[in-house]
Amino acid sequence: MEEQRDIKRRDFLKKTVWVAVAVSVSGLKACKEDDNADPIKNDCVTTKDILGPFYKAGAPYQENIIPPENMAAPLYIMGKVSGNCNTLLKDAIVEIWNANTEGIYDTSDAYKFRGQFKTETDGLYRFKTIIPGRYLNGGTYRPSHIHFRITAPGYNELVSQIYFKDDPFITEDPWAADPSAAERILPLGKDENGTDTVTFDIYLTT
Ligand SMILES: [Fe+2]
Repeated sequence: MEEQRDIKRRDFLKKTVWVAVAVSVSGLKACKEDDNADPIKNDCVTTKDILGPFYKAGAPYQENIIPPENMAAPLYIMGKVSGNCNTLLKDAIVEIWNANTEGIYDTSDAYKFRGQFKTETDGLYRFKTIIPGRYLNGGTYRPSHIHFRITAPGYNELVSQIYFKDDPFITEDPWAADPSAAERILPLGKDENGTDTVTFDIYLTT
C-alpha cells in the first residue's frame, strides 16, 4: 500500500513537474563560454551563499520533501545543472533544505524538508517543497529562502541559497541584499494546475 502510494506520487511528480521543466528548458538563456565570466551577472557562474547552521548531511534521495502532516501549498523547484556554461551534468547531486511554514528547520533523522536529487544526462533536477517561513536572525527576519548544496565529479562544490522576488525582507538581509545574490532572487511561476513553481538553473565551475 505504502509502495503503491509512492509509485503514484512519483508518477504525479513526473507528470506535473516535467511539463514545467520542458517549458523552462525551451527558454534557456544563451550562455556562452567565457573565461572572464562575471559572477554578479551569473555568466555561467552561480554565486555562493552561506551554508547556515541547519545543514544536516545524509538527506534521503527524494523529490517530494514535504512531510505528510504539512498542509502548506506546494512549490515545485526545478532547473538544470551545467558545468562551465554548456555542459549539462550527469551525476550532479543537488541537495536542498528549507524551514517549515513557521520558519523552523527539522534537524531530526526524519529529514523533513530535506532531500537530494541525482541528475541524469539531461542535467535536470526537481523537488516538491513549500515556500518556507521566515525566521529571526538577530533583530530581523531572514527572507524566505531555500538552501542548496551541489556537487558533481570534476567540479567545485557549490553552497548557495535562493530567495523570492518581492520578499520585503530581502533589503534587510546581509546575504540576500548582497549584489552577488541578485540572480538568485527568483520570480514565482505557475504550472498548468496553478501550483507555484520556481526555476533555478545552476552553473558549476571547474
Ligand atoms: Fe536558512
